[in-house]
Amino acid sequence: MPELFTWEFAADPYPAYAWLREHAPVRRTTLPSGVEAWLVTRYADARQALAEGRLSKNPVHHSEGAHAKGKVGIPGERSADLMTHLLNIDPPDHTRLRRLVSKAFTPRRVAEFAPRVQQLTDHLIDGFAAKGEADLIHEFAFPLPIYAICDLLGVPPEDQDDFRDWAGMMIRHGGGPRGGVARAVKKMRTYLLELIHRKRGELGDDLISGLIRASDHGEHLTENEAAAMAFILLFAGFETTVNLIGNGTHTLLHHPEQRAQLQESLARGETALLATAVEELLRYDGPVELATWRFATGPLVIGGQEIATGDPVLVVLAAADRDPARFGGPDTLDLARRDNQHLGYGHGIHYCLGAPLARLEAQCALGTLLTRLPDLGLAAGPEELRWRGGLIMRGLRTLPVRFAPER
Ligand code: HEM
Repeated sequence: MPELFTWEFAADPYPAYAWLREHAPVRRTTLPSGVEAWLVTRYADARQALAEGRLSKNPVHHSEGAHAKGKVGIPGERSADLMTHLLNIDPPDHTRLRRLVSKAFTPRRVAEFAPRVQQLTDHLIDGFAAKGEADLIHEFAFPLPIYAICDLLGVPPEDQDDFRDWAGMMIRHGGGPRGGVARAVKKMRTYLLELIHRKRGELGDDLISGLIRASDHGEHLTENEAAAMAFILLFAGFETTVNLIGNGTHTLLHHPEQRAQLQESLARGETALLATAVEELLRYDGPVELATWRFATGPLVIGGQEIATGDPVLVVLAAADRDPARFGGPDTLDLARRDNQHLGYGHGIHYCLGAPLARLEAQCALGTLLTRLPDLGLAAGPEELRWRGGLIMRGLRTLPVRFAPER
Protein backbone atom coordinates (compact mmCIF):
# COMPACT_ATOMS: atom_id res chain seq x y z
CA MET A 1 0.00 0.00 0.00
CA PRO A 2 1.63 3.29 -1.08
CA GLU A 3 1.70 6.13 1.42
CA LEU A 4 -0.93 8.80 0.83
CA PHE A 5 -0.93 12.51 1.72
CA THR A 6 2.87 12.92 1.80
CA TRP A 7 4.70 15.64 -0.16
CA GLU A 8 5.78 13.08 -2.77
CA PHE A 9 2.14 12.03 -3.12
CA ALA A 10 1.08 15.68 -3.54
CA ALA A 11 3.62 16.10 -6.36
CA ASP A 12 2.36 13.02 -8.21
CA PRO A 13 -0.58 11.12 -6.69
CA TYR A 14 -1.32 9.10 -9.85
CA PRO A 15 0.86 6.01 -9.14
CA ALA A 16 -0.79 5.65 -5.70
CA TYR A 17 -4.24 6.02 -7.26
CA ALA A 18 -3.39 3.34 -9.85
CA TRP A 19 -2.47 1.01 -6.99
CA LEU A 20 -5.70 1.74 -5.12
CA ARG A 21 -7.85 1.29 -8.26
CA GLU A 22 -6.31 -2.11 -8.80
CA HIS A 23 -5.94 -3.47 -5.26
CA ALA A 24 -8.35 -1.60 -2.99
CA PRO A 25 -10.86 0.33 -5.11
CA VAL A 26 -13.06 1.26 -2.14
CA ARG A 27 -10.64 1.74 0.71
CA ARG A 28 -11.19 2.97 4.26
CA THR A 29 -8.47 5.50 4.96
CA THR A 30 -7.46 7.80 7.80
CA LEU A 31 -7.15 11.34 6.49
CA PRO A 32 -4.56 13.84 7.76
CA SER A 33 -7.32 15.42 9.90
CA GLY A 34 -7.85 12.10 11.67
CA VAL A 35 -11.27 11.57 10.09
CA GLU A 36 -11.80 8.13 8.52
CA ALA A 37 -13.40 7.97 5.08
CA TRP A 38 -13.92 5.56 2.18
CA LEU A 39 -11.89 6.49 -0.90
CA VAL A 40 -13.60 5.45 -4.16
CA THR A 41 -11.13 5.29 -7.06
CA ARG A 42 -12.69 3.35 -9.99
CA TYR A 43 -14.62 5.25 -12.66
CA ALA A 44 -17.76 3.08 -12.58
CA ASP A 45 -17.94 3.14 -8.77
CA ALA A 46 -17.24 6.88 -8.72
CA ARG A 47 -20.13 7.61 -11.10
CA GLN A 48 -22.42 5.42 -9.04
CA ALA A 49 -21.41 7.12 -5.79
CA LEU A 50 -21.79 10.65 -7.21
CA ALA A 51 -25.37 9.88 -8.25
CA GLU A 52 -26.28 7.80 -5.17
CA GLY A 53 -29.32 9.20 -3.36
CA ARG A 54 -28.39 7.49 -0.09
CA LEU A 55 -25.13 9.45 0.04
CA SER A 56 -26.09 12.76 1.60
CA LYS A 57 -24.18 16.01 1.29
CA ASN A 58 -25.44 17.19 4.65
CA PRO A 59 -22.69 16.84 7.28
CA VAL A 60 -25.24 16.20 10.05
CA HIS A 61 -25.30 12.62 8.74
CA HIS A 62 -21.67 11.98 9.67
CA SER A 63 -21.61 9.43 12.50
CA GLU A 64 -18.67 11.12 14.23
CA GLY A 65 -19.91 14.68 13.93
CA ALA A 66 -16.64 15.86 12.37
CA HIS A 67 -18.31 18.95 10.94
CA ALA A 68 -19.04 20.29 14.41
CA LYS A 69 -15.32 19.94 15.16
CA GLY A 70 -14.44 21.83 11.97
CA LYS A 71 -12.83 18.78 10.34
CA VAL A 72 -15.28 18.44 7.46
CA GLY A 73 -16.55 21.13 5.11
CA ILE A 74 -15.45 24.69 4.44
CA PRO A 75 -13.57 26.18 7.42
CA GLY A 76 -15.61 28.86 9.15
CA GLU A 77 -18.86 28.20 7.27
CA ARG A 78 -20.55 26.98 10.44
CA SER A 79 -19.71 29.94 12.63
CA ALA A 80 -20.46 32.34 9.77
CA ASP A 81 -23.84 30.69 9.13
CA LEU A 82 -23.20 29.84 5.49
CA MET A 83 -24.33 26.26 5.88
CA THR A 84 -27.26 26.18 3.52
CA HIS A 85 -25.40 26.14 0.25
CA LEU A 86 -25.73 23.72 -2.63
CA LEU A 87 -22.79 21.52 -1.68
CA ASN A 88 -24.20 20.88 1.82
CA ILE A 89 -27.81 20.01 1.10
CA ASP A 90 -29.98 17.27 -0.43
CA PRO A 91 -33.31 17.25 -2.26
CA PRO A 92 -35.87 18.69 -1.88
CA ASP A 93 -34.00 21.80 -0.56
CA HIS A 94 -31.22 21.31 -3.09
CA THR A 95 -33.69 21.06 -5.96
CA ARG A 96 -35.41 24.30 -4.92
CA LEU A 97 -32.21 26.32 -4.38
CA ARG A 98 -30.51 24.98 -7.51
CA ARG A 99 -33.57 25.84 -9.61
CA LEU A 100 -33.59 29.37 -8.21
CA VAL A 101 -29.89 30.00 -8.82
CA SER A 102 -30.09 28.42 -12.29
CA LYS A 103 -32.61 31.10 -13.21
CA ALA A 104 -30.01 33.78 -12.49
CA PHE A 105 -26.82 31.96 -13.51
CA THR A 106 -27.79 30.98 -17.03
CA PRO A 107 -25.55 29.81 -19.92
CA ARG A 108 -26.71 32.95 -21.73
CA ARG A 109 -25.46 35.23 -18.95
CA VAL A 110 -22.11 33.41 -19.10
CA ALA A 111 -21.91 33.70 -22.91
CA GLU A 112 -22.61 37.43 -22.71
CA PHE A 113 -19.75 37.71 -20.25
CA ALA A 114 -17.16 36.40 -22.76
CA PRO A 115 -15.87 39.84 -23.95
CA ARG A 116 -15.29 40.89 -20.33
CA VAL A 117 -13.29 37.70 -19.61
CA GLN A 118 -11.17 38.42 -22.70
CA GLN A 119 -10.59 41.99 -21.49
CA LEU A 120 -9.56 40.82 -18.01
CA THR A 121 -7.25 38.20 -19.50
CA ASP A 122 -5.52 40.71 -21.77
CA HIS A 123 -5.22 43.24 -18.98
CA LEU A 124 -3.50 40.71 -16.70
CA ILE A 125 -1.11 39.57 -19.46
CA ASP A 126 -0.33 43.25 -20.22
CA GLY A 127 0.87 43.48 -16.61
CA PHE A 128 3.80 41.08 -17.12
CA ALA A 129 4.26 40.61 -20.89
CA ALA A 130 7.12 43.13 -21.16
CA LYS A 131 9.09 41.56 -18.28
CA GLY A 132 9.98 38.32 -20.03
CA GLU A 133 9.20 36.34 -16.87
CA ALA A 134 6.31 35.87 -14.47
CA ASP A 135 4.81 33.71 -11.80
CA LEU A 136 1.76 32.54 -13.66
CA ILE A 137 -0.13 31.57 -10.52
CA HIS A 138 0.18 34.92 -8.73
CA GLU A 139 0.07 37.22 -11.73
CA PHE A 140 -2.46 35.40 -13.89
CA ALA A 141 -4.27 32.22 -12.78
CA PHE A 142 -5.08 33.60 -9.30
CA PRO A 143 -6.46 37.08 -10.11
CA LEU A 144 -8.40 36.14 -13.26
CA PRO A 145 -11.17 34.01 -11.68
CA ILE A 146 -11.55 36.28 -8.66
CA TYR A 147 -12.05 39.42 -10.75
CA ALA A 148 -14.30 37.50 -13.18
CA ILE A 149 -16.62 36.16 -10.50
CA CYS A 150 -16.68 39.52 -8.65
CA ASP A 151 -17.70 41.27 -11.88
CA LEU A 152 -20.34 38.69 -12.61
CA LEU A 153 -21.79 38.91 -9.10
CA GLY A 154 -21.79 42.71 -9.23
CA VAL A 155 -19.13 43.45 -6.58
CA PRO A 156 -18.13 47.09 -7.30
CA PRO A 157 -14.58 47.47 -8.74
CA GLU A 158 -13.36 49.43 -5.69
CA ASP A 159 -14.15 46.46 -3.40
CA GLN A 160 -12.69 43.73 -5.59
CA ASP A 161 -9.18 43.96 -4.14
CA ASP A 162 -10.65 43.10 -0.71
CA PHE A 163 -11.97 39.90 -2.29
CA ARG A 164 -8.58 39.26 -3.80
CA ASP A 165 -7.06 39.51 -0.28
CA TRP A 166 -9.69 37.25 1.32
CA ALA A 167 -9.33 34.73 -1.49
CA GLY A 168 -5.56 34.88 -1.00
CA MET A 169 -6.01 34.08 2.70
CA MET A 170 -8.16 31.10 1.81
CA ILE A 171 -5.77 29.68 -0.74
CA ARG A 172 -2.61 30.34 1.32
CA HIS A 173 -4.01 28.60 4.34
CA GLY A 174 -5.56 25.74 2.36
CA GLY A 175 -4.38 22.53 4.03
CA GLY A 176 -2.67 24.57 6.77
CA PRO A 177 -3.97 26.50 9.76
CA ARG A 178 -7.72 26.92 9.42
CA GLY A 179 -7.97 30.12 11.46
CA GLY A 180 -7.04 32.40 8.54
CA VAL A 181 -9.58 30.77 6.26
CA ALA A 182 -12.33 31.08 8.85
CA ARG A 183 -11.56 34.80 9.29
CA ALA A 184 -11.65 35.39 5.53
CA VAL A 185 -14.95 33.47 5.25
CA LYS A 186 -16.51 35.65 7.97
CA LYS A 187 -15.36 38.85 6.31
CA MET A 188 -16.76 37.73 2.98
CA ARG A 189 -20.09 36.87 4.52
CA THR A 190 -20.42 40.20 6.30
CA TYR A 191 -19.57 42.01 3.09
CA LEU A 192 -21.96 39.94 0.95
CA LEU A 193 -24.88 40.43 3.34
CA GLU A 194 -24.32 44.18 3.24
CA LEU A 195 -24.04 44.19 -0.55
CA ILE A 196 -27.25 42.15 -0.91
CA HIS A 197 -29.01 44.53 1.42
CA ARG A 198 -27.84 47.54 -0.61
CA LYS A 199 -28.73 45.98 -3.96
CA ARG A 200 -32.20 45.07 -2.81
CA GLY A 201 -32.94 48.81 -2.88
CA GLU A 202 -31.64 49.18 -6.43
CA LEU A 203 -31.56 46.03 -8.51
CA GLY A 204 -29.17 45.92 -11.49
CA ASP A 205 -28.48 43.27 -14.10
CA ASP A 206 -25.68 41.56 -12.14
CA LEU A 207 -25.89 38.05 -10.72
CA ILE A 208 -26.58 39.11 -7.12
CA SER A 209 -29.55 41.19 -8.32
CA GLY A 210 -30.59 38.12 -10.34
CA LEU A 211 -30.42 35.98 -7.18
CA ILE A 212 -32.55 38.48 -5.27
CA ARG A 213 -35.05 38.71 -8.13
CA ALA A 214 -35.26 34.97 -8.88
CA SER A 215 -38.45 33.38 -7.73
CA ASP A 216 -39.94 29.96 -7.97
CA HIS A 217 -43.70 29.67 -7.58
CA GLY A 218 -43.65 33.04 -5.85
CA GLU A 219 -40.87 31.96 -3.50
CA HIS A 220 -37.67 34.02 -3.17
CA LEU A 221 -34.29 33.44 -1.59
CA THR A 222 -33.92 34.95 1.87
CA GLU A 223 -30.98 37.35 2.35
CA ASN A 224 -29.11 34.61 4.22
CA GLU A 225 -29.74 32.12 1.43
CA ALA A 226 -28.64 34.63 -1.20
CA ALA A 227 -25.45 35.34 0.79
CA ALA A 228 -24.71 31.61 1.12
CA MET A 229 -25.35 31.21 -2.61
CA ALA A 230 -23.05 34.10 -3.59
CA PHE A 231 -20.46 32.69 -1.21
CA ILE A 232 -20.54 29.18 -2.68
CA LEU A 233 -20.30 30.59 -6.19
CA LEU A 234 -17.15 32.41 -5.11
CA PHE A 235 -15.77 29.53 -3.12
CA ALA A 236 -16.51 26.80 -5.68
CA GLY A 237 -15.59 28.94 -8.65
CA PHE A 238 -12.38 30.47 -7.53
CA GLU A 239 -9.62 28.03 -6.50
CA THR A 240 -10.90 25.43 -8.97
CA THR A 241 -10.40 27.79 -11.90
CA VAL A 242 -7.02 29.03 -10.60
CA ASN A 243 -5.87 25.43 -10.59
CA LEU A 244 -7.34 24.49 -13.95
CA ILE A 245 -5.36 27.33 -15.52
CA GLY A 246 -2.26 26.52 -13.42
CA ASN A 247 -2.29 22.72 -13.78
CA GLY A 248 -3.34 23.06 -17.43
CA THR A 249 -0.45 25.36 -18.34
CA HIS A 250 1.95 23.15 -16.38
CA THR A 251 0.77 20.06 -18.31
CA LEU A 252 1.01 21.84 -21.68
CA LEU A 253 4.57 22.97 -20.96
CA HIS A 254 5.51 19.33 -20.35
CA HIS A 255 4.01 18.18 -23.66
CA PRO A 256 5.77 20.34 -26.28
CA GLU A 257 4.49 18.47 -29.36
CA GLN A 258 0.84 18.68 -28.43
CA ARG A 259 1.24 22.22 -27.23
CA ALA A 260 2.76 23.11 -30.64
CA GLN A 261 -0.23 21.54 -32.41
CA LEU A 262 -2.57 23.55 -30.23
CA GLN A 263 -0.66 26.77 -30.99
CA GLU A 264 -0.76 26.04 -34.72
CA SER A 265 -4.50 25.51 -34.60
CA LEU A 266 -4.95 28.76 -32.62
CA ALA A 267 -2.82 30.61 -35.20
CA ARG A 268 -5.22 29.35 -37.89
CA GLY A 269 -8.07 30.85 -35.89
CA GLU A 270 -9.55 27.45 -34.99
CA THR A 271 -11.14 26.79 -31.61
CA ALA A 272 -12.15 23.11 -31.81
CA LEU A 273 -8.82 21.77 -30.48
CA LEU A 274 -8.77 24.36 -27.68
CA ALA A 275 -12.20 23.12 -26.55
CA THR A 276 -11.24 19.43 -26.43
CA ALA A 277 -7.85 20.39 -24.92
CA VAL A 278 -9.44 22.07 -21.89
CA GLU A 279 -11.58 18.95 -21.25
CA GLU A 280 -8.52 16.71 -21.57
CA LEU A 281 -6.48 18.91 -19.23
CA LEU A 282 -9.30 18.56 -16.71
CA ARG A 283 -9.28 14.78 -17.06
CA TYR A 284 -5.49 14.45 -17.08
CA ASP A 285 -4.65 16.68 -14.09
CA GLY A 286 -7.82 18.43 -12.97
CA PRO A 287 -8.16 20.82 -10.04
CA VAL A 288 -10.69 18.83 -7.98
CA GLU A 289 -8.77 15.78 -6.81
CA LEU A 290 -11.58 14.53 -4.58
CA ALA A 291 -15.25 15.44 -4.83
CA THR A 292 -16.63 17.11 -1.71
CA TRP A 293 -17.88 15.05 1.26
CA ARG A 294 -20.75 12.57 1.15
CA PHE A 295 -22.25 10.61 4.08
CA ALA A 296 -24.19 7.32 4.01
CA THR A 297 -27.76 7.79 5.27
CA GLY A 298 -28.32 4.03 5.22
CA PRO A 299 -26.25 0.90 4.57
CA LEU A 300 -25.16 0.57 0.94
CA VAL A 301 -22.66 -1.25 -1.27
CA ILE A 302 -20.15 0.42 -3.59
CA GLY A 303 -17.81 -1.71 -5.67
CA GLY A 304 -18.67 -4.78 -3.56
CA GLN A 305 -17.76 -2.97 -0.33
CA GLU A 306 -20.37 -2.49 2.40
CA ILE A 307 -20.63 1.08 3.67
CA ALA A 308 -22.25 1.62 7.08
CA THR A 309 -24.73 4.36 7.97
CA GLY A 310 -22.93 7.58 8.89
CA ASP A 311 -19.68 6.69 7.11
CA PRO A 312 -18.06 9.45 5.00
CA VAL A 313 -17.32 8.69 1.34
CA LEU A 314 -14.82 10.62 -0.79
CA VAL A 315 -14.94 10.06 -4.54
CA VAL A 316 -11.44 10.43 -5.97
CA LEU A 317 -12.15 12.15 -9.30
CA ALA A 318 -8.44 12.26 -10.18
CA ALA A 319 -8.22 8.46 -9.86
CA ALA A 320 -11.49 7.73 -11.69
CA ASP A 321 -10.45 9.92 -14.62
CA ARG A 322 -7.31 7.80 -15.15
CA ASP A 323 -9.17 4.47 -15.00
CA PRO A 324 -8.05 2.22 -17.90
CA ALA A 325 -11.44 0.49 -17.75
CA ARG A 326 -12.99 3.74 -19.05
CA PHE A 327 -10.29 5.68 -20.94
CA GLY A 328 -7.94 4.35 -23.62
CA GLY A 329 -4.33 5.20 -22.68
CA PRO A 330 -5.47 7.01 -19.52
CA ASP A 331 -1.99 8.21 -18.56
CA THR A 332 -1.39 9.71 -22.00
CA LEU A 333 -2.38 13.30 -22.69
CA ASP A 334 -4.42 13.54 -25.89
CA LEU A 335 -5.65 17.09 -26.46
CA ALA A 336 -7.89 15.88 -29.30
CA ARG A 337 -9.55 13.14 -27.17
CA ARG A 338 -13.23 12.89 -28.14
CA ASP A 339 -14.63 10.08 -25.99
CA ASN A 340 -13.97 12.04 -22.83
CA GLN A 341 -16.79 11.84 -20.33
CA HIS A 342 -14.52 12.76 -17.41
CA LEU A 343 -15.75 13.40 -13.89
CA GLY A 344 -13.79 16.63 -13.40
CA TYR A 345 -17.03 18.59 -12.95
CA GLY A 346 -18.69 15.81 -10.94
CA HIS A 347 -21.84 13.95 -11.96
CA GLY A 348 -25.50 13.80 -10.94
CA ILE A 349 -27.51 16.52 -9.22
CA HIS A 350 -24.43 18.30 -7.83
CA TYR A 351 -22.77 18.50 -11.28
CA CYS A 352 -20.80 21.75 -11.42
CA LEU A 353 -23.14 24.68 -11.85
CA GLY A 354 -20.26 26.87 -13.01
CA ALA A 355 -18.95 24.54 -15.75
CA PRO A 356 -19.85 26.94 -18.61
CA LEU A 357 -18.02 29.80 -16.86
CA ALA A 358 -15.03 27.58 -16.02
CA ARG A 359 -14.78 26.47 -19.67
CA LEU A 360 -15.02 30.05 -20.88
CA GLU A 361 -12.31 31.27 -18.49
CA ALA A 362 -9.94 28.36 -19.11
CA GLN A 363 -10.28 28.50 -22.91
CA CYS A 364 -9.78 32.25 -22.91
CA ALA A 365 -6.82 32.14 -20.48
CA LEU A 366 -4.93 29.29 -22.14
CA GLY A 367 -5.74 30.34 -25.71
CA THR A 368 -4.65 33.96 -25.15
CA LEU A 369 -1.54 33.02 -23.18
CA LEU A 370 -0.26 30.63 -25.88
CA THR A 371 -1.08 33.10 -28.65
CA ARG A 372 0.50 36.18 -27.06
CA LEU A 373 3.52 34.43 -25.51
CA PRO A 374 4.17 31.62 -28.00
CA ASP A 375 7.61 30.67 -26.63
CA LEU A 376 6.40 30.37 -23.03
CA GLY A 377 8.64 27.98 -21.07
CA LEU A 378 9.01 26.76 -17.48
CA ALA A 379 11.61 28.60 -15.41
CA ALA A 380 11.75 25.98 -12.64
CA GLY A 381 12.58 22.29 -12.52
CA PRO A 382 10.07 19.73 -11.17
CA GLU A 383 11.91 19.64 -7.83
CA GLU A 384 11.40 23.39 -7.37
CA LEU A 385 7.64 23.29 -8.02
CA ARG A 386 5.52 22.96 -4.88
CA TRP A 387 2.02 21.51 -4.87
CA ARG A 388 -0.41 22.76 -2.29
CA GLY A 389 -1.17 19.39 -0.73
CA GLY A 390 -4.74 20.19 0.34
CA LEU A 391 -7.29 17.40 0.53
CA ILE A 392 -9.94 18.31 -2.03
CA MET A 393 -8.02 20.56 -4.39
CA ARG A 394 -4.89 19.92 -6.46
CA GLY A 395 -2.81 22.91 -7.54
CA LEU A 396 0.61 24.58 -7.68
CA ARG A 397 1.81 27.29 -5.28
CA THR A 398 3.84 29.01 -7.98
CA LEU A 399 4.48 28.53 -11.69
CA PRO A 400 7.59 30.51 -12.77
CA VAL A 401 7.82 30.99 -16.55
CA ARG A 402 10.06 32.75 -19.09
CA PHE A 403 9.28 34.08 -22.55
CA ALA A 404 10.47 36.62 -25.10
CA PRO A 405 9.23 39.99 -23.80
CA GLU A 406 6.33 41.46 -25.72
CA ARG A 407 7.06 44.89 -27.19
C1 HEM B 1 -19.92 21.76 -8.01
C2 HEM B 1 -15.68 21.22 -10.30
C3 HEM B 1 -15.68 25.91 -11.50
C4 HEM B 1 -19.77 26.52 -9.02
C5 HEM B 1 -18.77 21.22 -8.54
C6 HEM B 1 -18.39 19.83 -8.43
C7 HEM B 1 -17.20 19.69 -9.06
C8 HEM B 1 -16.82 20.96 -9.58
C9 HEM B 1 -16.39 18.40 -9.18
C10 HEM B 1 -19.20 18.72 -7.75
C11 HEM B 1 -18.75 18.48 -6.35
C12 HEM B 1 -19.41 17.30 -5.69
O1 HEM B 1 -20.29 16.64 -6.27
O2 HEM B 1 -19.03 17.02 -4.55
C13 HEM B 1 -15.33 22.44 -10.82
C14 HEM B 1 -14.16 22.67 -11.63
C15 HEM B 1 -14.15 23.99 -11.96
C16 HEM B 1 -15.32 24.59 -11.37
C17 HEM B 1 -13.13 21.60 -12.00
C18 HEM B 1 -13.16 24.79 -12.74
C19 HEM B 1 -12.32 24.33 -13.54
C20 HEM B 1 -16.81 26.47 -10.99
C21 HEM B 1 -17.23 27.84 -11.18
C22 HEM B 1 -18.37 28.01 -10.46
C23 HEM B 1 -18.67 26.74 -9.83
C24 HEM B 1 -16.48 28.87 -12.04
C25 HEM B 1 -19.24 29.22 -10.28
C26 HEM B 1 -18.96 30.40 -10.51
C27 HEM B 1 -20.12 25.29 -8.52
C28 HEM B 1 -21.28 25.09 -7.66
C29 HEM B 1 -21.32 23.73 -7.37
C30 HEM B 1 -20.20 23.12 -8.06
C31 HEM B 1 -22.24 26.16 -7.19
C32 HEM B 1 -22.35 23.02 -6.50
C33 HEM B 1 -23.46 22.52 -7.36
C34 HEM B 1 -24.48 21.71 -6.58
O3 HEM B 1 -24.19 21.20 -5.50
O4 HEM B 1 -25.62 21.61 -7.08
N1 HEM B 1 -17.80 21.89 -9.26
N2 HEM B 1 -15.99 23.62 -10.68
N3 HEM B 1 -17.71 25.83 -10.18
N4 HEM B 1 -19.49 24.08 -8.74
FE1 HEM B 1 -17.82 23.84 -9.81
